[in-house]
Amino acid sequence: MMLEELLQQLQAISSDAVASLNAADSDAAIEAVKNRTLGRSGAITALSPQMGQLPKEDKRAAGLAFNEAKTAIQKALNDAKAKLAASEAASAPAVDVTLPGRAWPIGRKHPISQTIDECCDIFRRMGFIAVSGPELETVWYNFDALNAPLNHPSRDPQDTFYLPDGRLLRTQTSPVQIRTMLGNKPPVRIVSPGRCYRRDTPDATHGVHFHQLEGLYIDKNVSMADLRSTILKFATEFFGPDVRIRMRPSFFPFTEPSVECDFSCVCCGGKGCRVCKNSGWLEIMGAGMVNPAVLRNAGYDPEELQGFAFGFGLERLTMLKHRINDLRIFSDNDLRFLKQF
Ligand code: DAH
Repeated sequence: MMLEELLQQLQAISSDAVASLNAADSDAAIEAVKNRTLGRSGAITALSPQMGQLPKEDKRAAGLAFNEAKTAIQKALNDAKAKLAASEAASAPAVDVTLPGRAWPIGRKHPISQTIDECCDIFRRMGFIAVSGPELETVWYNFDALNAPLNHPSRDPQDTFYLPDGRLLRTQTSPVQIRTMLGNKPPVRIVSPGRCYRRDTPDATHGVHFHQLEGLYIDKNVSMADLRSTILKFATEFFGPDVRIRMRPSFFPFTEPSVECDFSCVCCGGKGCRVCKNSGWLEIMGAGMVNPAVLRNAGYDPEELQGFAFGFGLERLTMLKHRINDLRIFSDNDLRFLKQF
Protein backbone atom coordinates (compact mmCIF):
# COMPACT_ATOMS: atom_id res chain seq x y z
CA MET A 1 0.00 0.00 0.00
CA MET A 2 1.26 3.46 -0.90
CA LEU A 3 1.61 6.25 1.65
CA GLU A 4 -1.07 8.24 -0.11
CA GLU A 5 -3.60 5.45 0.23
CA LEU A 6 -2.73 4.80 3.90
CA LEU A 7 -3.21 8.47 4.79
CA GLN A 8 -6.60 8.51 3.05
CA GLN A 9 -7.79 5.42 4.90
CA LEU A 10 -6.66 6.79 8.27
CA GLN A 11 -8.44 10.05 7.51
CA ALA A 12 -11.62 8.22 6.54
CA ILE A 13 -11.62 6.01 9.67
CA SER A 14 -10.99 8.93 11.98
CA SER A 15 -13.62 11.28 10.52
CA ASP A 16 -16.19 8.47 10.44
CA ALA A 17 -15.41 7.66 14.11
CA VAL A 18 -15.60 11.30 15.22
CA ALA A 19 -18.95 11.74 13.44
CA SER A 20 -20.38 8.58 15.08
CA LEU A 21 -19.12 9.68 18.50
CA ASN A 22 -20.68 13.13 18.13
CA ALA A 23 -24.02 11.42 17.52
CA ALA A 24 -23.59 8.68 20.18
CA ASP A 25 -26.34 8.76 22.86
CA SER A 26 -25.42 5.76 25.00
CA ASP A 27 -22.42 4.10 26.66
CA ALA A 28 -22.89 1.10 24.36
CA ALA A 29 -22.68 3.28 21.20
CA ILE A 30 -19.46 4.91 22.48
CA GLU A 31 -17.91 1.52 23.35
CA ALA A 32 -18.81 0.18 19.86
CA VAL A 33 -16.93 3.01 18.12
CA LYS A 34 -13.93 2.48 20.37
CA ASN A 35 -13.86 -1.25 19.59
CA ARG A 36 -14.16 -0.90 15.84
CA THR A 37 -11.34 1.71 15.63
CA LEU A 38 -8.81 1.48 18.48
CA GLY A 39 -9.77 -1.98 19.76
CA ARG A 40 -7.59 -5.09 19.26
CA SER A 41 -9.31 -5.96 15.98
CA GLY A 42 -10.24 -2.36 15.18
CA ALA A 43 -9.57 -0.62 11.84
CA ILE A 44 -6.64 1.49 13.06
CA THR A 45 -5.02 -1.50 14.72
CA ALA A 46 -5.49 -3.51 11.55
CA LEU A 47 -3.74 -0.85 9.44
CA SER A 48 -0.60 -0.58 11.52
CA PRO A 49 1.26 -3.56 9.94
CA GLN A 50 1.03 -1.61 6.64
CA MET A 51 3.58 0.85 8.01
CA GLY A 52 6.28 -1.78 7.79
CA GLN A 53 5.76 -2.15 4.01
CA LEU A 54 6.38 1.54 3.28
CA PRO A 55 9.66 2.90 1.89
CA LYS A 56 11.91 4.29 4.59
CA GLU A 57 11.37 7.98 3.72
CA ASP A 58 7.55 7.68 4.09
CA LYS A 59 7.55 6.02 7.53
CA ARG A 60 7.79 9.24 9.53
CA ALA A 61 4.79 10.83 7.78
CA ALA A 62 2.79 7.61 8.28
CA GLY A 63 3.64 7.47 12.01
CA LEU A 64 2.50 11.05 12.47
CA ALA A 65 -0.76 10.30 10.66
CA PHE A 66 -1.44 7.26 12.91
CA ASN A 67 -0.89 9.35 16.03
CA GLU A 68 -3.08 12.13 14.74
CA ALA A 69 -5.93 9.73 13.96
CA LYS A 70 -5.66 8.00 17.37
CA THR A 71 -5.55 11.33 19.22
CA ALA A 72 -8.57 12.65 17.35
CA ILE A 73 -10.61 9.52 18.08
CA GLN A 74 -9.55 9.45 21.75
CA LYS A 75 -10.55 13.08 22.18
CA ALA A 76 -13.94 12.46 20.55
CA LEU A 77 -14.40 9.44 22.90
CA ASN A 78 -13.74 11.55 26.00
CA ASP A 79 -16.02 14.33 24.78
CA ALA A 80 -18.84 11.90 24.05
CA LYS A 81 -18.56 10.33 27.52
CA ALA A 82 -18.60 13.73 29.23
CA LYS A 83 -21.59 14.86 27.20
CA LEU A 84 -23.50 11.70 28.05
CA ALA A 85 -22.74 12.00 31.81
CA ALA A 86 -23.90 15.62 31.81
CA SER A 87 -27.19 14.82 30.10
CA GLU A 88 -27.85 11.90 32.48
CA ALA A 89 -27.29 14.17 35.49
CA ALA A 90 -29.62 16.81 34.01
CA SER A 91 -32.45 14.33 33.49
CA ALA A 92 -32.11 12.67 36.98
CA PRO A 93 -35.04 13.39 39.35
CA ALA A 94 -34.36 16.67 41.16
CA VAL A 95 -34.27 16.97 44.99
CA ASP A 96 -37.39 18.78 46.13
CA VAL A 97 -36.09 20.96 48.95
CA THR A 98 -39.62 22.09 49.88
CA LEU A 99 -40.68 18.58 51.00
CA PRO A 100 -41.18 18.33 54.79
CA GLY A 101 -38.38 16.51 56.66
CA ARG A 102 -38.82 13.09 58.22
CA ALA A 103 -40.17 13.32 61.78
CA TRP A 104 -38.25 11.31 64.40
CA PRO A 105 -40.40 10.60 67.47
CA ILE A 106 -38.87 12.00 70.67
CA GLY A 107 -38.70 9.63 73.66
CA ARG A 108 -39.67 10.87 77.11
CA LYS A 109 -39.10 9.81 80.68
CA HIS A 110 -41.82 7.73 82.29
CA PRO A 111 -43.96 9.86 84.66
CA ILE A 112 -42.75 7.79 87.65
CA SER A 113 -39.13 8.42 86.65
CA GLN A 114 -39.93 12.12 86.36
CA THR A 115 -41.33 12.08 89.90
CA ILE A 116 -38.23 10.25 91.16
CA ASP A 117 -35.99 12.87 89.54
CA GLU A 118 -38.04 15.74 90.93
CA CYS A 119 -38.14 14.32 94.48
CA CYS A 120 -34.40 13.60 94.47
CA ASP A 121 -33.72 17.14 93.24
CA ILE A 122 -35.80 18.67 96.03
CA PHE A 123 -34.09 16.58 98.71
CA ARG A 124 -30.68 17.18 97.16
CA ARG A 125 -31.21 20.91 97.67
CA MET A 126 -31.74 20.11 101.38
CA GLY A 127 -28.47 18.17 101.58
CA PHE A 128 -29.72 14.61 100.97
CA ILE A 129 -27.90 12.41 98.51
CA ALA A 130 -29.74 9.79 96.44
CA VAL A 131 -28.65 6.17 96.83
CA SER A 132 -30.09 2.88 95.61
CA GLY A 133 -30.39 -0.58 97.10
CA PRO A 134 -31.11 -4.07 95.78
CA GLU A 135 -34.67 -5.17 94.95
CA LEU A 136 -33.71 -8.71 95.95
CA GLU A 137 -33.21 -8.60 99.70
CA THR A 138 -32.58 -10.87 102.64
CA VAL A 139 -35.11 -11.30 105.44
CA TRP A 140 -32.62 -9.67 107.78
CA TYR A 141 -32.41 -6.36 105.89
CA ASN A 142 -36.09 -6.21 104.95
CA PHE A 143 -37.56 -7.24 108.35
CA ASP A 144 -35.21 -8.28 111.19
CA ALA A 145 -32.85 -5.32 111.19
CA LEU A 146 -35.85 -2.99 110.88
CA ASN A 147 -37.21 -4.36 114.15
CA ALA A 148 -40.23 -6.09 112.57
CA PRO A 149 -41.56 -8.61 115.13
CA LEU A 150 -41.30 -12.24 114.05
CA ASN A 151 -45.09 -12.56 113.90
CA HIS A 152 -45.57 -9.35 111.86
CA PRO A 153 -48.20 -10.03 109.19
CA SER A 154 -46.11 -8.39 106.43
CA ARG A 155 -43.64 -11.30 106.75
CA ASP A 156 -46.35 -13.73 105.67
CA PRO A 157 -45.84 -15.44 102.27
CA GLN A 158 -49.38 -14.27 101.54
CA ASP A 159 -48.01 -10.72 101.46
CA THR A 160 -44.36 -11.11 100.45
CA PHE A 161 -42.75 -12.80 97.44
CA TYR A 162 -40.11 -15.26 98.70
CA LEU A 163 -37.48 -17.00 96.60
CA PRO A 164 -36.80 -20.72 97.12
CA ASP A 165 -33.45 -19.79 98.74
CA GLY A 166 -35.24 -17.75 101.43
CA ARG A 167 -34.48 -14.32 100.02
CA LEU A 168 -37.36 -12.03 99.06
CA LEU A 169 -38.39 -9.19 96.78
CA ARG A 170 -38.19 -6.18 99.09
CA THR A 171 -41.57 -4.99 100.33
CA GLN A 172 -40.30 -1.48 101.13
CA THR A 173 -37.29 0.75 100.51
CA SER A 174 -36.58 0.88 104.27
CA PRO A 175 -33.81 -1.81 104.12
CA VAL A 176 -31.67 0.81 102.36
CA GLN A 177 -31.56 2.62 105.75
CA ILE A 178 -29.72 -0.37 107.22
CA ARG A 179 -27.37 -0.76 104.25
CA THR A 180 -26.53 2.96 104.40
CA MET A 181 -25.80 3.00 108.13
CA LEU A 182 -23.73 -0.19 108.00
CA GLY A 183 -21.66 1.17 105.12
CA ASN A 184 -21.16 4.78 106.29
CA LYS A 185 -20.03 6.75 109.31
CA PRO A 186 -22.56 9.26 110.67
CA PRO A 187 -23.87 11.77 109.84
CA VAL A 188 -25.91 10.33 106.97
CA ARG A 189 -28.55 12.11 104.96
CA ILE A 190 -29.95 10.01 102.12
CA VAL A 191 -33.02 9.43 100.01
CA SER A 192 -33.51 6.15 98.20
CA PRO A 193 -36.12 5.75 95.47
CA GLY A 194 -36.90 2.36 94.01
CA ARG A 195 -39.22 -0.48 93.18
CA CYS A 196 -40.93 -2.62 95.83
CA TYR A 197 -43.10 -5.73 95.63
CA ARG A 198 -46.13 -6.95 97.55
CA ARG A 199 -48.57 -9.75 96.99
CA ASP A 200 -51.57 -7.44 96.63
CA THR A 201 -54.48 -8.14 94.33
CA PRO A 202 -54.02 -5.45 91.66
CA ASP A 203 -56.72 -2.76 91.57
CA ALA A 204 -56.88 0.98 90.86
CA THR A 205 -54.71 1.85 93.87
CA HIS A 206 -52.64 -1.33 94.43
CA GLY A 207 -50.15 -3.15 92.23
CA VAL A 208 -47.82 -6.09 92.85
CA HIS A 209 -44.96 -3.71 92.25
CA PHE A 210 -44.81 -0.03 93.01
CA HIS A 211 -42.24 2.60 93.88
CA GLN A 212 -41.29 4.15 97.18
CA LEU A 213 -38.88 6.81 98.27
CA GLU A 214 -37.14 6.35 101.58
CA GLY A 215 -35.48 9.15 103.52
CA LEU A 216 -33.04 8.90 106.41
CA TYR A 217 -31.20 11.54 108.40
CA ILE A 218 -28.91 10.52 111.28
CA ASP A 219 -26.78 12.95 113.25
CA LYS A 220 -26.33 14.35 116.73
CA ASN A 221 -29.31 16.39 117.97
CA VAL A 222 -31.83 15.56 115.25
CA SER A 223 -35.42 16.20 116.38
CA MET A 224 -39.05 15.80 115.32
CA ALA A 225 -38.97 19.51 114.45
CA ASP A 226 -36.30 18.77 111.81
CA LEU A 227 -38.49 16.00 110.43
CA ARG A 228 -41.49 18.32 110.24
CA SER A 229 -39.65 21.16 108.52
CA THR A 230 -38.03 18.78 106.03
CA ILE A 231 -41.37 17.26 105.04
CA LEU A 232 -43.09 20.67 104.86
CA LYS A 233 -40.33 21.95 102.59
CA PHE A 234 -40.68 18.90 100.38
CA ALA A 235 -44.49 19.25 100.24
CA THR A 236 -44.40 22.91 99.17
CA GLU A 237 -41.62 22.35 96.65
CA PHE A 238 -43.45 19.43 95.06
CA PHE A 239 -47.07 20.60 95.14
CA GLY A 240 -46.79 24.38 95.55
CA PRO A 241 -46.48 26.98 98.34
CA ASP A 242 -50.04 26.60 99.67
CA VAL A 243 -49.74 22.99 100.81
CA ARG A 244 -49.96 22.44 104.60
CA ILE A 245 -48.99 19.29 106.45
CA ARG A 246 -50.17 17.57 109.61
CA MET A 247 -48.83 14.67 111.62
CA ARG A 248 -50.88 11.99 113.34
CA PRO A 249 -49.54 9.40 115.78
CA SER A 250 -49.00 6.03 114.14
CA PHE A 251 -46.93 2.89 114.52
CA PHE A 252 -44.00 1.45 112.59
CA PRO A 253 -41.56 -1.07 114.09
CA PHE A 254 -38.56 0.93 112.88
CA THR A 255 -39.55 4.33 114.31
CA GLU A 256 -40.42 5.57 117.81
CA PRO A 257 -42.41 7.75 117.95
CA SER A 258 -44.05 7.10 114.58
CA VAL A 259 -46.30 9.43 112.62
CA GLU A 260 -48.50 9.37 109.59
CA CYS A 261 -48.02 12.58 107.63
CA ASP A 262 -50.90 14.11 105.66
CA PHE A 263 -50.79 16.90 103.08
CA SER A 264 -53.68 19.33 102.65
CA CYS A 265 -55.64 18.17 99.60
CA VAL A 266 -53.92 19.31 96.41
CA CYS A 267 -57.21 19.11 94.48
CA CYS A 268 -59.51 21.24 96.64
CA GLY A 269 -56.97 23.10 98.79
CA GLY A 270 -58.43 21.52 101.92
CA LYS A 271 -62.10 22.42 101.48
CA GLY A 272 -63.09 18.81 100.89
CA CYS A 273 -63.66 16.97 97.61
CA ARG A 274 -63.95 13.44 96.21
CA VAL A 275 -60.17 12.95 96.05
CA CYS A 276 -59.72 13.62 99.81
CA LYS A 277 -63.05 11.99 100.66
CA ASN A 278 -64.24 15.35 101.98
CA SER A 279 -61.63 15.37 104.74
CA GLY A 280 -59.43 18.07 103.20
CA TRP A 281 -56.35 15.88 103.86
CA LEU A 282 -54.39 13.26 101.92
CA GLU A 283 -52.40 10.48 103.60
CA ILE A 284 -48.97 10.71 102.01
CA MET A 285 -46.24 9.15 104.12
CA GLY A 286 -45.09 7.28 107.16
CA ALA A 287 -42.30 8.75 109.24
CA GLY A 288 -40.81 8.96 112.69
CA MET A 289 -37.68 9.07 114.82
CA VAL A 290 -35.49 6.06 114.08
CA ASN A 291 -36.00 3.39 116.73
CA PRO A 292 -32.89 2.92 118.94
CA ALA A 293 -33.10 -0.83 118.26
CA VAL A 294 -32.65 -0.12 114.53
CA LEU A 295 -29.66 2.15 115.19
CA ARG A 296 -28.09 -0.64 117.27
CA ASN A 297 -28.75 -3.25 114.54
CA ALA A 298 -26.91 -0.98 112.10
CA GLY A 299 -23.96 -0.49 114.44
CA TYR A 300 -24.75 3.07 115.57
CA ASP A 301 -24.84 4.14 119.23
CA PRO A 302 -28.35 5.41 120.14
CA GLU A 303 -26.93 7.23 123.17
CA GLU A 304 -24.94 9.43 120.85
CA LEU A 305 -27.05 9.64 117.67
CA GLN A 306 -30.65 10.18 116.68
CA GLY A 307 -32.41 10.60 113.40
CA PHE A 308 -35.61 10.59 111.48
CA ALA A 309 -36.85 8.44 108.62
CA PHE A 310 -39.77 8.67 106.24
CA GLY A 311 -41.14 6.69 103.34
CA PHE A 312 -43.83 7.30 100.73
CA GLY A 313 -45.31 5.85 97.56
CA LEU A 314 -44.28 7.49 94.30
CA GLU A 315 -47.29 6.28 92.30
CA ARG A 316 -49.62 8.12 94.68
CA LEU A 317 -47.64 11.38 94.42
CA THR A 318 -47.60 11.15 90.63
CA MET A 319 -51.33 10.40 90.51
CA LEU A 320 -52.12 13.41 92.71
CA LYS A 321 -49.87 15.73 90.73
CA HIS A 322 -51.33 14.77 87.35
CA ARG A 323 -54.87 13.92 88.53
CA ILE A 324 -54.61 10.28 87.45
CA ASN A 325 -57.12 7.95 89.09
CA ASP A 326 -55.86 4.46 88.20
CA LEU A 327 -52.27 3.36 88.79
CA ARG A 328 -52.45 0.39 86.41
CA ILE A 329 -51.97 2.90 83.61
CA PHE A 330 -48.33 3.40 84.76
CA SER A 331 -47.39 -0.13 83.74
CA ASP A 332 -49.57 -0.52 80.63
CA ASN A 333 -46.96 1.26 78.47
CA ASP A 334 -49.69 2.79 76.35
CA LEU A 335 -47.92 5.42 74.27
CA ARG A 336 -51.04 7.60 74.10
CA PHE A 337 -50.74 7.97 77.89
CA LEU A 338 -46.94 8.23 78.10
CA LYS A 339 -46.74 10.86 75.34
CA GLN A 340 -48.60 13.37 77.50
CA PHE A 341 -45.67 13.74 79.88
N1 DAH B 1 -41.74 1.34 104.96
C1 DAH B 1 -43.02 1.91 105.24
C2 DAH B 1 -44.06 1.28 104.31
O1 DAH B 1 -43.69 0.54 103.47
C3 DAH B 1 -43.00 3.39 105.03
C4 DAH B 1 -42.24 4.09 106.07
C5 DAH B 1 -42.85 4.46 107.25
C6 DAH B 1 -40.90 4.32 105.90
C7 DAH B 1 -42.16 5.10 108.24
C8 DAH B 1 -40.19 4.96 106.91
C9 DAH B 1 -40.83 5.34 108.08
O2 DAH B 1 -38.88 5.22 106.81
O3 DAH B 1 -40.13 6.00 109.06
O4 DAH B 1 -45.22 1.53 104.48
